[in-house]
Amino acid sequence: MNNVRPESMARITTTELANAFIDEQVKEVREQVGDKKVLLALSGGVDSSVVAALLIKAIGKQLVCVHVNHGLMRKGESEAVIEVFRNQLDANLIYVDATDRFLGLLEGVSEPEKKRKIIGGEFIKVFDEEASKLEGISFLAQGTIYPDILESDGVKAHHNVGGLPEDMQFELVEPIKLLYKDEVRVVGKALGLPVSMVDRQPFPGPGLGVRCLGAITRDRLHALREADAILREEFDLAGLNLKVWQYFIAVPDVKSVGVKNDKRYEGWPAIIRAVNTTDAMSATIEEIPYELLHKITARITAEVEGINRVLYDLTPKPVGTIEWE
Ligand code: XMP
Repeated sequence: MNNVRPESMARITTTELANAFIDEQVKEVREQVGDKKVLLALSGGVDSSVVAALLIKAIGKQLVCVHVNHGLMRKGESEAVIEVFRNQLDANLIYVDATDRFLGLLEGVSEPEKKRKIIGGEFIKVFDEEASKLEGISFLAQGTIYPDILESDGVKAHHNVGGLPEDMQFELVEPIKLLYKDEVRVVGKALGLPVSMVDRQPFPGPGLGVRCLGAITRDRLHALREADAILREEFDLAGLNLKVWQYFIAVPDVKSVGVKNDKRYEGWPAIIRAVNTTDAMSATIEEIPYELLHKITARITAEVEGINRVLYDLTPKPVGTIEWE
């Protein structure tokens, strides 16, 4: 399969078309791989999850998935990867909790680009170490999709933390490289992946590292993760998960004075970002009912240690980017 999508290839919009694609890919992957082993960095994002499910169907335990938890995942995310892939799909999954390594290296580092470099570099190191412990791996699977090929050389280097070392001597397996994102989701659903995984919002490779602004500390990261979980829960309950393209919390390294239980309470603000966009190049602000904003504010300030204010970011892109970094 080369890197150009044939004009004759129909857009995959239905389960039937997805099943036909899956059958064809299962056959192709089996032919390519034979009885050899394949390694995959499984982030839990849509693309790598769909590749994993497809390859499990094609070659079962010959696929070795490595999930690196860099400590910057959202609440429950690594647990969901383990539940779906190890427990439900019986995948050969290696789970690496590298939280301490990442947070240790990030200690005291406040510059956004430096933080990204540290996270990306350490990810490669951890993955490489795991790979070198394994024997008989001949192939590397990647969740490259068609927009990645159109936008770059086909290797998700800068955007995904999973940009892998160039000296890895593996042949690539890229079963979804001719698919657009909407088709990846249809295929993922046909493969039986949970909707929460297939319809997942875009999430930066460096994860909460770009939302815990400035130098990351464990207590502020914890507060961010808990506040973000509350926001997601409340948006789901209100049906806004279907209306808003991306929403999350950012927590800056700033404290203000507040009052909690009749005592002075210094805390960080939790900033809500909720945007709509089609291509992430520009974004508009969703109208969130005030009632819901009040409810989210009440819950976050009551339930999350360290947060004493909740703010709503009304800035469209441009001028503001979607992430705060
Ligand atoms: P900005 O902040 O530039 O973000 O307006 C545009 C979109 O890109 C997402 N984003 C990333 N996605 N890896 C990704 O896969 C990254 O490193 C990354 N950084 C930003 C961001 O969440 C938004 O949807």
